[in-house]
Amino acid sequence: MKIIAANFKMNLTKKEIDNYLKEIDNKKINNVIFFPSNLYIPYFSKYNIGSQDISFKEIGSITGDTSIKQYLDFNIKYVLIGHSERRKYFNDSKYISDKVNLALKNNIIPIICVGETEEEYNNNLTKKVLKDELDEALENNITLLNNEIIIAYEPIFSIGTNKVLDIKEIENIITYIKSYLKNTYLLDIKVLYGGSVNLNNIGNLEKISNLDGYLIGNASLDAKSFLDLTSKIK
Ligand code: 13P
Repeated sequence: MKIIAANFKMNLTKKEIDNYLKEIDNKKINNVIFFPSNLYIPYFSKYNIGSQDISFKEIGSITGDTSIKQYLDFNIKYVLIGHSERRKYFNDSKYISDKVNLALKNNIIPIICVGETEEEYNNNLTKKVLKDELDEALENNITLLNNEIIIAYEPIFSIGTNKVLDIKEIENIITYIKSYLKNTYLLDIKVLYGGSVNLNNIGNLEKISNLDGYLIGNASLDAKSFLDLTSKIK
């Protein structure tokens, strides 16, 4: 069964979360991981939960940040690291390796987000960008072996735009990521695809043979249609 990661980003308020929880109650969604805004994580305690980020430090004087130790109090099992929105607005690329190390040290599965811009894609730089991002996340890491790591491939220009690459291209990129990590780091990892996954394109995306799951933004925000979407994912 594929992994389905629902990234709410900075969306939904308490009332909407209450309705959402009513809608998903008692539904068969064991393969879904919810990534709500921090404040609402406790309400999802019945489900698989992850955080959208962690601080690069384990504890201490960093105003506005949240430590992995604090997330652990709420039983998170996964963390998104290096989402393109965090790289863009918070200069996160600098901290990827620290965050991956902290996650692994605390037995949390990191979902490392990688992806190229449209300009890089048009200039045939996709593989180079991905290789650099993967190395940046993993090369200073001494705890890799025997740890589960997930990669989320999200072409930046596909996020929230409805512009999805041809499925053959996505398949080739996933093959590249898997073989690079196997050959360089001896890692067998799962790869998720993210970027405008929705009810209209899921049938086509499901034809990708080497895909292990999806990272879904907008289409996870309405519980009813999200459940419909999850029912189409094998
Ligand atoms: P959308 O599904 O809204 O394009 O967002 C993708 C994403 O960034 C998930 O992390």
